[in-house]
Amino acid sequence: MTSPLTLSTLLGSLPRSGIRAIAAFAGNRPGLAHLEYGEPSMMTPEPIRRAAARAVLEERMVYTPTPGPARLRELISEKLRRVNGYEAAPEQVFVTAGGVGALFLALAAVLDPGDAVLLPDPGWPNAVGQARILQAEPLFYPLDAKNGFLPDPDSWRIPPHCKAVVINSPANPTGAVFPREVVERIAQVADRHGLWVISDEVYDEIYFDRAPTSIFQVRAERSMAVYSFSKTYAMTGWRLGYLVAPAEVVEPLQKVAEAVFSSTSMVAQRAAEAALAEAGPHVPEMVATYRRRRDLAVSLCRDWGLYRYTPEGAFYLMVDVSKAGPAEDVARRLVVEKGVVAVPGTAFGRQAQHELRISLAASEDDIRRGLQAIREIVEG
Ligand SMILES: Cc1ncc(COP(=O)(O)O)c(C=O)c1O
Repeated sequence: MTSPLTLSTLLGSLPRSGIRAIAAFAGNRPGLAHLEYGEPSMMTPEPIRRAAARAVLEERMVYTPTPGPARLRELISEKLRRVNGYEAAPEQVFVTAGGVGALFLALAAVLDPGDAVLLPDPGWPNAVGQARILQAEPLFYPLDAKNGFLPDPDSWRIPPHCKAVVINSPANPTGAVFPREVVERIAQVADRHGLWVISDEVYDEIYFDRAPTSIFQVRAERSMAVYSFSKTYAMTGWRLGYLVAPAEVVEPLQKVAEAVFSSTSMVAQRAAEAALAEAGPHVPEMVATYRRRRDLAVSLCRDWGLYRYTPEGAFYLMVDVSKAGPAEDVARRLVVEKGVVAVPGTAFGRQAQHELRISLAASEDDIRRGLQAIREIVEG
């Protein structure tokens, strides 16, 4: 007789992704309009693909230094100066498996079991699972639609065991870009409470109006920033991102990385080097495409009585479907009755019970079809 599996309590306690849940519910019915994944619809720009192919053909693929190869860290340091408006030495850069890997390293650097971390609600849900893996307590601060989905740091309740706050601008799932004064107020509140600020800036280059403010522009101490190649260069499948942190944090963090993944893929590193050195001109083209899609979505919302706000970055829009019922029911009806897949706001926390997130990384046809379907369901 085989004995039953004995698995960790962690496996039972981790939340499932609500994005994957609605995608699984939709399955592979034919003809669906997919508005659920935050994934660029374009190919990775050609210079990046060519550089990766060249590396595979010409170089030995070997282990690389744990925080990433020197050249890539230097290129990233230059990019931070050019794009993000601050100085960070290559020793402050840790190359990771996606932005998600950088976020995990940041949390692992500052959280002990029993500590708390303050997360946005609605927010990208993976940070909740990461906090649980580290046996830390996730706490939440609201991002209210009435306030343009911006945080109000002066109203945050911060218990003494809270060690860090995670912020995300341009934001998933709302597309909000925090004005500089909001980032400054966050820094002041963090100073007052001795918190680390972990700033998820993976959409740093995807904005339509004002440029986002990096945490490092306003606060050098006790700050970390998370970036990714996934969104800027349509490279989700390459799995490469990076953390920017004080050099004294990067150095000991190598022990965590060595224990968990050693180093990232050398092919992806070569691709990332080409992205930074050669693919810059492709970024404005891609951002222009997202802007067109954002403008289309906003104007359709205005025409069809769905308008509430204009996302200023990333590639998401939250649509209020409260007239049609709870978001999860509406999301399922959309799949079954209209063949449209959108994510219920409940996938991002408790605040967005009556909203659907649609991805503006989808094609214009799918965006139009999705909003038309939402309109029909909302109008009954
Ligand atoms: C806010 C936010 N942070 C981090 C990530 C992680 O990106 P990746 O791991 O693909 O680089 C995502 C991906 O959707 C995201 O939306």
